[in-house]
Amino acid sequence: METFASIDDIQRHAEQVLPQMVFDYYAGGAGDEWTLRENREAFQRYVLRPRVLVDVVERDTATEVLGTPVEAPIIIAPTAFQRMAHPEGEVATTRAAAAAGTIMTLSTIASSSIEEVAAAAPDAPRWFQLYVYNDRGVTKELVERAVASGYRALVLTVDTPVLGLRDRDGRNRFVLPEGVELANLAGLGRGMKLPHTEGSGLFEWVASLQDASVTWDDVAWLRSISDVPVVLKGILTAEDARLATDHGIEAIVVSNHGGRQLDGSPATISVLPEVIEAVDGRCEVYLDGGVRRGSDVLKAIALGARAVMIGRPVLWGLAADGERGVGMVLDMLRHEFDIAMAIAGCRDIGSITRDLVAPAGGP
Ligand code: GLV
Repeated sequence: METFASIDDIQRHAEQVLPQMVFDYYAGGAGDEWTLRENREAFQRYVLRPRVLVDVVERDTATEVLGTPVEAPIIIAPTAFQRMAHPEGEVATTRAAAAAGTIMTLSTIASSSIEEVAAAAPDAPRWFQLYVYNDRGVTKELVERAVASGYRALVLTVDTPVLGLRDRDGRNRFVLPEGVELANLAGLGRGMKLPHTEGSGLFEWVASLQDASVTWDDVAWLRSISDVPVVLKGILTAEDARLATDHGIEAIVVSNHGGRQLDGSPATISVLPEVIEAVDGRCEVYLDGGVRRGSDVLKAIALGARAVMIGRPVLWGLAADGERGVGMVLDMLRHEFDIAMAIAGCRDIGSITRDLVAPAGGP
């Protein structure tokens, strides 16, 4: 294998080895992809204010996320159809996450089933991402299967009443390659493939089956049908963050779906401060979108996130070398984070405080 020095190196390699349609689906965003780019660029509008002459011989990156100990505040975001990147797909990702001491979030539209992922890593901390389908029976069954298979939290994606318009997928007429299926959704009775259409097959599939009427009442319904914590993924405003805490939600993810939904919505790191202020400690807050460096993780934690979630980097690792590739990505980010902590004068997560970051540009 070649030597990779950064997540971007691994992405460049993935672009060479993946079919164009697959790379575009993973890499692409909605519209002009402004939000997609902005997620990364906005990290550069914060600077770190390192403190020096601190003894950092002993360092600890470990923390807890919803009561689960993790070796670093870097957990795995749900991403769809991982078998397009590697034949072992989500199973490989889950094993790599377990080995790295972190949490795997399995997507509803995964290409490996809830049960097969659980069987591959029974003791690994796993969360299940949920979309709500028009057929509430199917939705409820997904929840029951996830809970029965030991998934510890339900991550409800709240930013997708309909799928974002992604030009790349439209151009490529995106469908699932041979051998890749919607492994959890036989119950929807439409087969486990995406339809061939004039544009993105996923867009059509979501439009016909996913429920665009979901409201806070449905969040309450979801909470009533199981005992596991509910995480809301896709909050971008103080207003919705407050509503989430009013509804007793345990955690939220500040997310714009990796720039794949509403182009023009803000970078996640730029709205993290308003969300943290609104939540005022009443629930845990995670962030995804644009995290590619350990210093990005440090900035997010300093601004008040409990953890970050990574999506695309995992796919690039999978494409590079399956389970080993995902392990490499997780190790790389954690190592970068540890080194950034040391040079910033932080011994542990508790010593990463708000005054470690400031807007770039100065007074
Ligand atoms: C699915 O959630 C996607 O963003 O394609």
